[in-house]
Amino acid sequence: MPAKVVSVVMQKGGVGKSTITFNLGYNLSRSHRVLLLDTDGQYQLTKLAAAERTAEATLAKAYELPDSDLRDFIQPTKFREEGSGPFPRLGIVPSEWNVNDVDSAVLTWRHTRLDPQRTLDKLLKRSREVLEWYDVVLVDTPPALNNLTANSLMASDYVLLPIQMSDDFSVDNLMHPLALIGEVVKETGGRLKPLGFIQNMHDHRLLITRAVRADLERYSEETGIPILEPAIPDSTVVQQANKLKEPIAAYDHRSAPGRALSQLTQLIAREIGLDGGARGN
Ligand SMILES: Nc1ncnc2c1ncn2[C@@H]1O[C@H](COP(=O)(O)OP(=O)(O)OP(=O)(O)O)[C@@H](O)[C@H]1O
Ligand SMILES: [Mg+2]
Repeated sequence: MPAKVVSVVMQKGGVGKSTITFNLGYNLSRSHRVLLLDTDGQYQLTKLAAAERTAEATLAKAYELPDSDLRDFIQPTKFREEGSGPFPRLGIVPSEWNVNDVDSAVLTWRHTRLDPQRTLDKLLKRSREVLEWYDVVLVDTPPALNNLTANSLMASDYVLLPIQMSDDFSVDNLMHPLALIGEVVKETGGRLKPLGFIQNMHDHRLLITRAVRADLERYSEETGIPILEPAIPDSTVVQQANKLKEPIAAYDHRSAPGRALSQLTQLIAREIGLDGGARGN
């Protein structure tokens, strides 16, 4: 079965997209083969995964070249190095460029190709060996609803929507990603499925967290998109682990965010049908 493709999308900056992508990827790679794609020119995911960055092996390059195959762009991370498969068990296609450059690379594509928003989808379909070998492809996206994010959604089976629970939140902010998702669902004949909202930086003592939760519940009811449990607490453990470029499960798996991420990983694995047993290298 080809890899399931999961995008992490929210146009608001700093809600935890890269942190969540990295930690879900690491946790899933215990039992499955995981490929991370960094589509953000600020390359936070690339930094967290401590991947080598070379100008030649970036996702932007793979986007640019009409006959590219992802197998030439996958870099190892410093995690899960064991094994002898054709690809790293937790691999990454890094980002390097300034986000505007990458986005304009896709825009340039728009003038020369039909279907500019299917660049990633086509790239993945061309990369048959990669898609067959990996169980899941996790795509981190920039804090914008630009061509890169549209490309990620058009290539995805699922989308996760992180929400910052400790910040003033307006439901209006959700209308734009949900409108784009709605368009992509139509465009892809229902292939894309929103898996749910991830409650990040949750602090139950805060009035603001409770207010956001109430808004989110209303929105979840209206849209049918579930709120995934448990919430990931607002915690210095996350900041420390990120600073050290360590997965939270390796830094402190007993911590509250460590446990929450572990439970979320299991829930998401079940939802996307990764239950079918562990995969060796
Ligand atoms: N649960 C949490 N508790 C505390 N800090 C957190 C938590 N999740 C993320 N952070 C911190 O918030 C900041 C933003 O996280 P991250 O880079 O993952 O967000 P992002 O949505 O990818 O941002 P951008 O939109 O800029 O790409 C980082 O400094 C990270 O360490
Ligand atoms: Mg990010």
